[in-house]
Amino acid sequence: APISPPDLTTCGPPDLPGGVKPTNCCPPYSKIIDFKFPPSNQPLRVRPAAHLVTDDYLAKYKKALDLMKKLPPKDPRNFMQQANVHCAYCDGAYHQVGFPDLDLQVHNSWLFFPFHRWYLYFYERILGSLINDPTFALPFWNWDAPRGMKLPSIYAERKSPLYDPLRNPNHQPPTLVCWNCLTLQQYTNYINCQDDSYYNHTRNIIVIATIKETNNSLINFNIVDLDFDLDDPDADGKISSNLTIMYRQVVSNGKTPRLFLGNAYRAGDEPDPGGGSVENVPHGPVHLWTGDLNQPNNENMGTFYSAARDPIFYSHHSNIDRLWSVWKTLGGKRRDFTDSDWLESGFLFYDENKNLVRVKVKDCLDTRKLGYVYQDVDIPWLNSKP
Ligand code: C2O
Repeated sequence: APISPPDLTTCGPPDLPGGVKPTNCCPPYSKIIDFKFPPSNQPLRVRPAAHLVTDDYLAKYKKALDLMKKLPPKDPRNFMQQANVHCAYCDGAYHQVGFPDLDLQVHNSWLFFPFHRWYLYFYERILGSLINDPTFALPFWNWDAPRGMKLPSIYAERKSPLYDPLRNPNHQPPTLVCWNCLTLQQYTNYINCQDDSYYNHTRNIIVIATIKETNNSLINFNIVDLDFDLDDPDADGKISSNLTIMYRQVVSNGKTPRLFLGNAYRAGDEPDPGGGSVENVPHGPVHLWTGDLNQPNNENMGTFYSAARDPIFYSHHSNIDRLWSVWKTLGGKRRDFTDSDWLESGFLFYDENKNLVRVKVKDCLDTRKLGYVYQDVDIPWLNSKP
């Protein structure tokens, strides 16, 4: 039988990693309605690559997120409530309906892709409704293409609602500050590197200066490592090794639905039967790469309970979601499961009207029916067969 949506009335305290102060991540409870597709006569939302967005778009996105963060804390559309959805579904706050001893866990199984697709679907619609823009679409972090292999700069502006201080300071992107804009003082501090705090504080600026200076040597410093395992490896060659990893995980290691989407997880099963290729790598490593290693659990992005408190989470997952769509175009046996236990599995999410909606996996398989597509970008790793 399929995994049922959780019973919110029995939501309990999550199992948090050591040292985290107890938090309640259960959502409010209300009457459940069944999912209906959005009207098909509406324009599609086109999710843009985060490194390619226009200033106009960015202004809207910031506005929407700012409004979301300012909603009353108990409003299920509030940003923290949205972040807590991840905590509740991933840290054992829910148990399987009918199996009170079994945690409900949406990672490490075939629920991974559909759960996160639904999660983003509602999150995106809430943002759009807050700015009255039914075409608003979440940006995706295009870390599978060279120009996207950095923390997208839209997320790195301090004081922006897109910013999160709990990230690895060594993995900040260069900002668009030119060499000429550096004061002599800034440049001298950089050269001498005697003042560490200053150095850290201005690191974004410095990288640009360095690029200008040496034209290469430090530019790789901020490139995302799709195989990141907590040590900072030699940066050289990261782009090409990232492309090879993409080919390996999506094409070579993703030849069947089970290999790509993950192992079966049915009612009564223990959690974590095993995730698909891309859930393991690069999904996991990008979380770890983004989080702050100086926090006890690599918060925010590096651990389930806090990952979605970083707005970049939703762009990371947009890219994961996009890769699911790309994978289905690659042929062979690369298509969705037809197993009814997968198709009939369900979740609950709050929508933009604060309704608690019951959704099923079978209704999320076509993003156009959900009203969105992805900006068409090159897929360079398709040619990176090792
Ligand atoms: Cu629910 Cu990227 O993890």
